[in-house]
Amino acid sequence: MNTRSVVIGCGHYLPSRIVENSEFEATLDTNDEWIRSRSGIERRHFAAEGETTSQMATAAARAALDDAGLGADDVDAIILATSTPDLTFPSAATMVQAQLGMTKGFAFDVQAVCAGFVFALANANALILSGQATRVLVIGAETFSRIMDWTDRSTCVLFGDGAGAVLLEAQSGEGTAQDRGILSTDLNSDGRHRDLLYVDGGTSTGTVGYLRMQGNQVFRHAVGKLAATATTAMERAGVTPEDVDWVVPHQANIRIIQGTANKLNLPMSQVVVTVQDHGNTSAASIPLALSVGRDRGQIKQGDLLVTEAIGGGLAWGAVVLRW
Ligand SMILES: CC(C)(COP(=O)(O)OP(=O)(O)OC[C@H]1O[C@@H](n2cnc3c(N)ncnc32)[C@H](O)[C@@H]1OP(=O)(O)O)[C@@H](O)C(=O)NCCC(=O)NCCS
Repeated sequence: MNTRSVVIGCGHYLPSRIVENSEFEATLDTNDEWIRSRSGIERRHFAAEGETTSQMATAAARAALDDAGLGADDVDAIILATSTPDLTFPSAATMVQAQLGMTKGFAFDVQAVCAGFVFALANANALILSGQATRVLVIGAETFSRIMDWTDRSTCVLFGDGAGAVLLEAQSGEGTAQDRGILSTDLNSDGRHRDLLYVDGGTSTGTVGYLRMQGNQVFRHAVGKLAATATTAMERAGVTPEDVDWVVPHQANIRIIQGTANKLNLPMSQVVVTVQDHGNTSAASIPLALSVGRDRGQIKQGDLLVTEAIGGGLAWGAVVLRW
């Protein structure tokens, strides 16, 4: 018998304000056609004034708990992947803990930018497999609209806000790739690429800062690294692309998603795509895609999923799981 971390609930939250590409035409030298053709993005959600990452994360977590039919005190730990916490500290995860009314257990943030949810899933899995937790809420939540330079057309049209969550539970499996739950993980980072994607603020400047990105350089790294990490994770799980039902990629750019699927030899009909409606929501994008994909009827219990993501750091990784 093997312990497996099985998804027993998921949910998401999107702020109500939807911004279409055409809205940027009033203030920037850009247009809907450019944004759509270069990125696949058509619209994104932006948080309301005063709406924070922890509030959106709490809404997504509540939806995941409701989906599982459980309450906050049934959970041992909360791991929140975010690069846009409400404050430098305490962690946004502890704010979610309080907002959920959870009076026991522990909570912390994971910061691996757009790869954050994959890193958080791997950490949650390690806690479960080592017996330190039985149920872990894993959340990705971001308000990237707060770190945009609204005069920089090469970045501000690409990102959005939102949150998604899954609830993992320790269950026993047979130790085969037929088990439900997380079957393998693969994490990587390479700090030499820091200047490709970063925020120019923090304790070194005393400001929050703005996102800066050399988009075409990030693009150059993305497809190869994503295909490699997904392949490594599949090998570790003992599965091949033919076994995969759904790729659930980080939603940054449709061309990266297509290029990676192509390299993995998987058709786009087996890829969950939400980038057109959400833009790049960084660590929130994979749990949003999982929840939306499930609601659309794409992802069903027993399906084999590969998730993969890359972001600032650079940091990248993949998780293979059976839903
Ligand atoms: C950002 C991205 C969409 C840009 O597409 P691209 O084809 O690489 O375009 P480039 O950056 O080479 O820019 C091409 C031209 O478009 C212009 N441009 C940039 N943003 C624009 C916009 N919003 N509207 C119109 N033109 C724009 C550039 O200024 C450049 O003009 P120039 O040739 O006169 O200098 C693309 O590089 C990308 O998606 N990269 C990956 C980013 C990413 O996913 N990051 C997150 C990882 S988590």
